Amino acid sequence: MNNNSIEYRKLEHLIVCDHCDVEYKKGTLLEDVELIHSGISNCDLDDIDTSIEIFGKKLNSPLIVAAITGGHPKAKEVNKNIAIAVEELNLGMGVGSQRAAISKSYLEDTYSVVRDHTSSLIIGNLGAVNFVEDSWDEEIISKSVEMIDADAMAIHFNPLQEAIQPEGDVNFKGLNILKEIISNYNKIHGKIPFIAKQVGEGFSKKDAIFLKEIGFDAIDVGGSGGTSWAAVELYRIKDEEQKNFSNQYFNWGIPTAASILEVNSAFSGPIIATGGIRTGIDIAKSISIGANCCGTALPILKAALKSSEAVTTVLERMIKELKTTMFLTGCNNINELKSARYILKGDLKNWKDQI
Ligand SMILES: Cc1cc2nc3c(=O)[nH]c(=O)nc-3n(C[C@H](O)[C@H](O)[C@H](O)COP(=O)(O)O)c2cc1C
Repeated sequence: MNNNSIEYRKLEHLIVCDHCDVEYKKGTLLEDVELIHSGISNCDLDDIDTSIEIFGKKLNSPLIVAAITGGHPKAKEVNKNIAIAVEELNLGMGVGSQRAAISKSYLEDTYSVVRDHTSSLIIGNLGAVNFVEDSWDEEIISKSVEMIDADAMAIHFNPLQEAIQPEGDVNFKGLNILKEIISNYNKIHGKIPFIAKQVGEGFSKKDAIFLKEIGFDAIDVGGSGGTSWAAVELYRIKDEEQKNFSNQYFNWGIPTAASILEVNSAFSGPIIATGGIRTGIDIAKSISIGANCCGTALPILKAALKSSEAVTTVLERMIKELKTTMFLTGCNNINELKSARYILKGDLKNWKDQI
């Protein structure tokens, strides 16, 4: 494996995220959402129903392990540990970008391992830029779906990460070819939900209008406030000048809560809130302001590098917090949480007024 290979880069990302401080210094702005406490509750905590239906599957809670990895033996272990936990709790998971296995089929099992351990919701993953840069078509999508028997397919958009990576693909012009590719896939291979996924930089209202026009069924806002790709790349870069450049963008992006409001103002399909989701309170707040489901990556990666039990522990803690928050806001189920009363404060209120 040479130092420039995709496999090496995947491994480096796992190590950097496990050992270094890669989170935004600014928050998700979920701190500016105040859910109104119910002094009477009028709910039975043991009877709170957190289940949802999304992409044709029923999940016990509105929580998906966001795309993390694949393409390296270490990644196989991480994906296996996540799949075991997801199966146990009946949640969903995404695999990392499947690009590595598109060109090197011996890497396929680092992704397909998930299906040996779960029949829950599995989301495939490819990068939008490669459809432009490498002239990918619907057959690449078909190969990726088959590899993991995917229930849905995420196409990730990551202009900040690519701009900062010394080896990044930076031609994001002409993304509307995705409209034809998605339509062709659905015609030839049968309909599957397509998710436009950000990776921690967030989508705006204008982006959401574009993504809807392309034909995406769902949007994962992938807002800022959690893992910062400028930070991750900062630790990989050796050159001082390049480091200073990357550092300027450490805090760049649309905070997750603001991105939910932006996207929700223009898009009526399912919205997934990812980016700095760390607690069940974050999940409850995201859903109350417009998300249908949440995703989390960094805390799960750290746990999955240890064991499947460690992943289960983190996810169970978040679900317990979500149930408690629903109990304290008088919400018996996720539909009631969607219409729970909240107050927007500070920067988020300011942001909302300017959408
Ligand atoms: C090590 C690592 C690798 C990731 N790889 C991918 C990827 O291949 N494709 C993708 O769409 N997102 C990828 N992500 C982004 C996550 O899915 C998520 O959007 C982002 O980390 C923000 O969530 P967080 O703050 O909970 O980490 C990766 C995240 C981490 C930490």
